[in-house]
Amino acid sequence: MSRESIRPPPDGTWLRAVLDAMVEAVLVVDADGRIALTNRALDAMTSEDVRGRRAKNVIKNERLREAMRDARKKRRATEVELEASVRGRARIFHALVSPLPKRAGAVAVLRDVTPIKDLERLRRDFVANASHELRTPLTSIRGFAETLVDGAVADPAATHRFLEAILRQTKRLQRLAEDLAVLARAESTDEPLAANVFDLRTIAAHVATALGPRADELGVKLRVSTPRRAVRTEANASAVEQVLTNLVDNALKHSKRGGRVVIAVQGAVTLARVEVRDTGRGIAAQHHARIFERFYRVDAGRTRSDGGAAVGGTGLGLAIVKHLVERMRGSVSVESAIGKGATFRVELPRPSR
Ligand SMILES: Nc1ncnc2c1ncn2[C@@H]1O[C@H](COP(=O)(O)OP(=O)(O)OP(=O)(O)O)[C@@H](O)[C@H]1O
Ligand SMILES: [Mg+2]
Repeated sequence: MSRESIRPPPDGTWLRAVLDAMVEAVLVVDADGRIALTNRALDAMTSEDVRGRRAKNVIKNERLREAMRDARKKRRATEVELEASVRGRARIFHALVSPLPKRAGAVAVLRDVTPIKDLERLRRDFVANASHELRTPLTSIRGFAETLVDGAVADPAATHRFLEAILRQTKRLQRLAEDLAVLARAESTDEPLAANVFDLRTIAAHVATALGPRADELGVKLRVSTPRRAVRTEANASAVEQVLTNLVDNALKHSKRGGRVVIAVQGAVTLARVEVRDTGRGIAAQHHARIFERFYRVDAGRTRSDGGAAVGGTGLGLAIVKHLVERMRGSVSVESAIGKGATFRVELPRPSR
């Protein structure tokens, strides 16, 4: 077919089809300021058909309304960023408003930039959090070192206490660096992790053995509960080990002396499940959605100020858990209430054959 033979039909059906194929919302007003044309993306933002109505009565945002008027009357193109609620959800739009030729009206093209803005905020929060996490232990290391230099070395007991505190803070920094490296690796891609078929009971036993000494130290009883038969899953064994290690570490940390932590493995038809249950202090419902975020800690004030001696972590453990589990096509959830302990449930795919 020669290029000359492709001619859009004169009735405008092509125009509407092309506009409907766009992700951006399009709004055209005529020379009198009436809405002449919209596309599907724009219709999805408004609950009713706005064509034929006056733009100034329809457009709620003042800056966009002015931009449309300027484009129409003064033939001036503008860019506007605006917030709007679309079906009850707050969104941020970037609007490009341009005049139509021959003073025929104006066109606005609106792009939903909410996901970009969210990412920007996430990155800003991340940098702020990371620098806070670095600063806290550094400040106290510096304080202890200065006190020693200023003469405390003369007192052997104080020296020992300060050096221990410095060592504790150094360990905290080291753990933060390690967690950040693990998280960066986990988040470097969304690609599924290499998967093998293995028995979930084996990994649960490994983790219980590895964390046994820690449980003894804290006076918490750690045990594994498994069915008699193998619970086969198709996943990445070392990622599952990391996931369970983080969950059991949390369970132990938030338990009181005399508490119990159970790693329970169960097989269902379509998925393999492993739960880490504890009898610790529990997590209030309002935190459930957020604890999987990077750096989020329920009791941030206390865990930060105690210098990381007993409870304080970096708040990265569960972010790592979530990312790894999702990359194995699995899911993780929490059930908990204050004083009722917590159960973290990980579900992983069964072998495909
Ligand atoms: N089993 C649990 N019982 C009570 N609270 C928990 C439990 N697991 C997690 N939490 C809460 O969720 C927060 C986030 O957990 P996460 O593992 O991400 O961070 P962390 O343990 O503080 O630090 P990290 O694991 O990086 O050393 C914790 O600070 C804690 O407040
Ligand atoms: Mg943790």
